[in-house]
Amino acid sequence: MVVCVCNALRETDVRKATRNGASCPTSAYANLGCRPKCGQCFPFAREVIAAERATA
Ligand code: FES
Repeated sequence: MVVCVCNALRETDVRKATRNGASCPTSAYANLGCRPKCGQCFPFAREVIAAERATA
């Protein structure tokens, strides 16, 4: 599933960034070489990050 339309980031990308230490959407996107643009994806990105951190 796509998390961030602006940067074409998928859920798997955000989970990978979380495993690399990202703890918020901004740091996750930076980890993937992107920057947040419209910010519409933040609530869902936060959910994905929280879910991945809960299983770490
Ligand atoms: S959808 Fe992620 S910044 Fe726009």
